[in-house]
Amino acid sequence: MAGTVHVVGSLMIDRVLRVCELPRAGQTVAARGIRTLPGGKGANQAAAAALAGARVRFCGRTGAEGRFIVDELAARGVDVACVRSDDPVAGSAAVMVEDSGQNAIVIAPESNARLERADIEAFLASAAPGDLLLVQNECAQLEWTLEFAARARLRTWLNAAPADAALAKLGLETLAGLVVNEDEAHALSGHEDPRTALGALAGRLTRGSVVVTLGPGGAVAWVGGHMLEFRGHRVNALDTVGCGDAFVGTMVAALAEGAPLDLAIRRGNAAGALAAMREGALPSLPTRSAVDSLLGSLER
Ligand code: RIB
Repeated sequence: MAGTVHVVGSLMIDRVLRVCELPRAGQTVAARGIRTLPGGKGANQAAAAALAGARVRFCGRTGAEGRFIVDELAARGVDVACVRSDDPVAGSAAVMVEDSGQNAIVIAPESNARLERADIEAFLASAAPGDLLLVQNECAQLEWTLEFAARARLRTWLNAAPADAALAKLGLETLAGLVVNEDEAHALSGHEDPRTALGALAGRLTRGSVVVTLGPGGAVAWVGGHMLEFRGHRVNALDTVGCGDAFVGTMVAALAEGAPLDLAIRRGNAAGALAAMREGALPSLPTRSAVDSLLGSLER
């Protein structure tokens, strides 16, 4: 299936609290309201890729409570035949969003932590060499999935989010690409400066590319031994949850179509900016035509 994006990823029930300011350690604050929305980095990125025009297949695990997320994916055209919703406890996330649009998130992976090798193996049985595989760090079996994908000669992009101690030790040699935000780049490389981190991470991939997203600052990328810079878009940020997922899913969809990485990053960058203007993670993801309009308006 040339041009298909296969996603092994998380589904989370996002309990979203809008607050004036994110609480400090030890502080209690009252939220203006609470909403339950579909989320999870895997689901968000799969939906973003599908909205960007890619053919997307998804493998993940949730519980009965999380079936609405599967429905949201299917409504956006994602093939959800390999999603299990039989787990006793669906993964969820406590998401706090303050008035500036910034957020803080705590995830309870639960069902995502019980994704099994057999499920992933069955899912990837229909992936052809050269197909794109997209993974994040919210599910079980990440290391095994990367090894399996390398043996199957898939082009694997890892969004190393959230970054944790286990991830710092993960072999990145076989990846086609690594995409992280500034904090994750710092955690993985030990370098606070994103450009220094980018160079250090690039040294850990044999042939692949590295992209570090900089939020409103755009992105930097290491491609074929060179650093490329991409300016951000100025938008009124209402809610930054899911912006990184919009970037990653849209970028990977463009790569699956055969676009060069610089163009794919431009598309991802525009999608991230558009997602910041709407509330929620999955519900904020832009369509392909919205991305085209934003990029087109810059050219006029
Ligand atoms: O990237 C945003 C996502 O991170 C949220 O939807 C939340 O579920 C967490 O996984």
